[in-house]
Amino acid sequence: MGKRDLLVVGELNIDLILNQIQGFPELGSEKVAQKMDVVLGSSSAIFAANIATLGVDTAFCGKVGKDDFGQMVSETLDAQNVDTTFISATDQFQTGLTVVMNYDQDRANITYCGAMEALTMEDIPWDKADTFRHFHLSNYFLQKGIQKDITAIFKKAKSAGMTTSLDLQVDPDDQWDFDYKKCLPYVDIFLPNESELLSLTGKATVEEALSAVKPVANTVALKRGTKGGMVYDKSEVIQLEAFVNDQFVDAIGAGDSFNAGFISKFLEGADWEACLRKANLTGALNTTAAGGTGAFKSLAAVKERAKSQFNQKI
Ligand SMILES: Nc1ncnc2c1ncn2[C@@H]1O[C@H](COP(=O)(O)OP(=O)(O)O)[C@@H](O)[C@H]1O
Ligand SMILES: [Mg+2]
Repeated sequence: MGKRDLLVVGELNIDLILNQIQGFPELGSEKVAQKMDVVLGSSSAIFAANIATLGVDTAFCGKVGKDDFGQMVSETLDAQNVDTTFISATDQFQTGLTVVMNYDQDRANITYCGAMEALTMEDIPWDKADTFRHFHLSNYFLQKGIQKDITAIFKKAKSAGMTTSLDLQVDPDDQWDFDYKKCLPYVDIFLPNESELLSLTGKATVEEALSAVKPVANTVALKRGTKGGMVYDKSEVIQLEAFVNDQFVDAIGAGDSFNAGFISKFLEGADWEACLRKANLTGALNTTAAGGTGAFKSLAAVKERAKSQFNQKI
């Protein structure tokens, strides 16, 4: 039997989104929101759902609580064709939740990490590791239970024969306590955005930051927002502009969708330029619909929009 494509390890939470709110929250007063949605949140889950839509056979390893939100997380991923066999439920915490208060283009978020902090290295299905081709981990700073083992995790994933990728995402505590010199040698594709790379390295410019990580990194795929993306590996630098999106809705999950495009093309055995082109396209597509998964309802819908809006084949 052939190997399965992808094992994702990451955080899971629900987003409770409040819209059309009377004003900013104030102690001792009550504000009314005209609209509320409860949807699947978490960048790892957006990545998994969207790469599954792109046709990649994807399994997810994560932690939820034994509650209705936990059930909703698993059911939603199931419905998006993500294998949820390795999602476990803990008694210790409730399922993670982000309350999103939307004010025009900006948002105020409050996150309860909950069960996502209880995921540890031991929860990863190592006995099945050699049945997957690729390992992706996202949102390192929110997952307290895996932080001390991050290098060991990537080392073990590599020795099980998987290729690997990592998207650290933002550190809400702004400490950036990640030993990139130790860990990145075991990461085949490192996927930061520009501001994350600057914070991680403590450098003032992207050039200096890249010089700091290059000696230890394998391939860096750098997200640059509306400027598109770049790929750096030992022997080449590739830079591609973003696809111009004149129907911008929001950028929630754009980076996760960039990752989905990049890794899906990588798994086809494509070169870095083709990976980056697809990543820029799926990142741009993400911004044409609300939320992280709105533009990824089906492969047919993705293809149709890539053609109609960007005149591209996916
Ligand atoms: N307004 C936009 N128009 C077109 N493409 C975009 C836009 N915003 C983001 N993208 C694409 O999505 C990618 C990821 O977005 P970015 O904001 O850099 O990541 P993150 O969400 O991790 O901060 C970008 O590199 C780019 O390819
Ligand atoms: Mg990101």
